[in-house]
Amino acid sequence: MTHEIAVIPGDGIGQEVVPAAVRVLRATDADLRFVEAEAGDAVAERTGDPLPNATREAVAAADATLLGAAGETAADVILPIRELVGSFANVRPARAYPGVDAVHPDTDLVIVRENTQGVYAGIESEIAPGVTTCTRVITEDASRQIAEFAFEYAAENGHDAVTVVHKANVMRTTDGLFREVAFEVGAEYDLAVEEVLMDAMATHLALDPTQYGVVLTPNLAGDVLSDLAAGLVGGLGLLPSANVGDDGAMFEPVHGTAPDIAGEGIANPAATILSAAMLLEHLGYDGEGARVRDAVETTLEDGPLTPDLGGEAFTDEVADAVIERL
Ligand code: NAI
Ligand code: MG
Repeated sequence: MTHEIAVIPGDGIGQEVVPAAVRVLRATDADLRFVEAEAGDAVAERTGDPLPNATREAVAAADATLLGAAGETAADVILPIRELVGSFANVRPARAYPGVDAVHPDTDLVIVRENTQGVYAGIESEIAPGVTTCTRVITEDASRQIAEFAFEYAAENGHDAVTVVHKANVMRTTDGLFREVAFEVGAEYDLAVEEVLMDAMATHLALDPTQYGVVLTPNLAGDVLSDLAAGLVGGLGLLPSANVGDDGAMFEPVHGTAPDIAGEGIANPAATILSAAMLLEHLGYDGEGARVRDAVETTLEDGPLTPDLGGEAFTDEVADAVIERL
């Protein structure tokens, strides 16, 4: 069966790294059809709309979407796309690679973050002049859905434990529910369920992230801790992510449009190629996804490397090297 992929390069270096990743995808044995669509600052300037209807339709019709980055309009592009794919899970691997400077060279963890609730549910008020509140939403259904996703992901990827990160000692009702459901779901799997309070987790990650594999968190904690984990493994040019939903999935590098180097052809394509590897695995091409990841890993170890990693190579030379290793 042919899978349809919506490809949205977006702005800045998105125009460079996304085509590079698509070349890698074309070099695999996966049966994919690509539909290119526009989003971001450039199309907004031309048409007044950062996410044209044709793009929404392409995302809705596709089995998966590969996105580069959008500039100032990022929120107007990414949030609606997450909604279109019904995204409830934000998956952010943080893995150190041989040959790349990292605070902790053996880090290899994945943060699975609930993506719709918590303090990001958007319920804020000014209840009196100078007095503001934010309502934190945690439901049993959403907690179960993200917990099932995390344990399923851990089982499929050969992990032996899931670490639930929360602050249920203070937010007893909301995080209490998140924690309780996570343990309930975990009991159905042949995996250990561990728990760490979110503030302690920040210390553990800084001191010894190697003891963690799959980390399950509510929304805000996952946002903060995944950025922390990113900092442990080196540059932004290496970090992929997935937004997985009921109606599709969107894969994107964690970085933005990098206006300081856009147009020079020197952006590191690794984060986008690794996002493409996650896309392959999501669609069931596990072998192809692993092959792409291995090819990226060998390239990071032996070069060529882009300037952000101390090399002198162009984006396309790195993509060529990955394809050759495939
Ligand atoms: P950024 O991630 O674009 O850049 C931060 C720094 O990292 C820059 O020095 C850049 O050159 C470097 N960098 C990032 N990716 C790289 C790569 N692949 N290879 C080599 N170097 C890389 O973040 P910044 O500068 O805060 O934001 C720039 C624009 O991107 C803004 O307009 C922002 O709104 C947008 N943005 C979009 C995101 C998205 O679409 N998901 C996410 C983050 C920012
Ligand atoms: Mg963030």
